[in-house]
Amino acid sequence: MPNNKSVVFSAQNVSKTFGAGKNLKTAVDNVSFDIYDGEIISIVGGSGCGKSVLAKIMLGLYQPSRGTFLYRDHQIKNLKNHWNEVQSVFQDPFSCFNQFFSIRSQLEDSLNILKDKPSKEEVKARVDAGLLAVNVKPSDIEGKYPFELSGGQMQRMLLARIFALRPKVLIADEPTSMVDACVRANILDYLMKLKQELQMTIVFVTHDIGLANYVSDRIFIMHDGKIVNQGTPEEVLDKTQEPHTLKLLDDIPEVHKTEWIKNSHRSKK
Ligand SMILES: Nc1ncnc2c1ncn2[C@@H]1O[C@H](COP(=O)(O)OP(=O)(O)OP(=O)(O)O)[C@@H](O)[C@H]1O
Ligand SMILES: [Mg+2]
Repeated sequence: MPNNKSVVFSAQNVSKTFGAGKNLKTAVDNVSFDIYDGEIISIVGGSGCGKSVLAKIMLGLYQPSRGTFLYRDHQIKNLKNHWNEVQSVFQDPFSCFNQFFSIRSQLEDSLNILKDKPSKEEVKARVDAGLLAVNVKPSDIEGKYPFELSGGQMQRMLLARIFALRPKVLIADEPTSMVDACVRANILDYLMKLKQELQMTIVFVTHDIGLANYVSDRIFIMHDGKIVNQGTPEEVLDKTQEPHTLKLLDDIPEVHKTEWIKNSHRSKK
């Protein structure tokens, strides 16, 4: 990969286990990789293969049980500092917003995490810009509460929050799971926009190897806690004989298959 770019995350033989004895569960099993500045990396695999646990290690929510995991040359100890630079979008947008506070106030409050706290005017301007970036008129959410919006709209609010916060790194765990195909394509376009306009590094977690092909610079295929295949979309999709990758390719719905391959990121380049 780009040898002139700096390393954002570095994993050396990282494992994460839960429980002990006969209840021991190895969720992440001896993975090693580097992720570089400005890359979009997709982590792809079936349910329970360890994607979210790995994403949580990146967020500092779990410490590895074995191995070394570094964010820009240091172990993740101070979560407040870490979250100043590394932010996430999770599967369920409703769990990220409190139903009893207006959306606007929550978007504005989320900027409190920033070390250099912007002025009141700048907070408002950044939230407005975030909303516009995901094609929502600020007036459309004025005085609205989370329960008044659909799942798809709430997912946009999460992305608006990211545009307003402008973290250096975004961990996006299945951000498209609650939306229909059309909105899903829009959200993927917003992810690309985050990368292009804000030079964000993005780790995108998904079941869907077709989506990964569409957005990624590199893809990591996970199975049973291990990274069983990694490389550029070309390397992973076109040349591989790796059985878990072939299985994931088989699982792409037939109707999407040609569309995803045709519209893929690499064919746009
Ligand atoms: N806190 C925990 N305690 C015990 N086991 C856990 C814990 N978190 C995750 N696991 C187990 O680790 C494995 C990997 O879980 P993970 O949530 O990473 O899967 P995933 O790949 O994200 O799946 P999905 O696609 O369904 O979200 C699963 O077997 C899960 O049950
Ligand atoms: Mg998960």
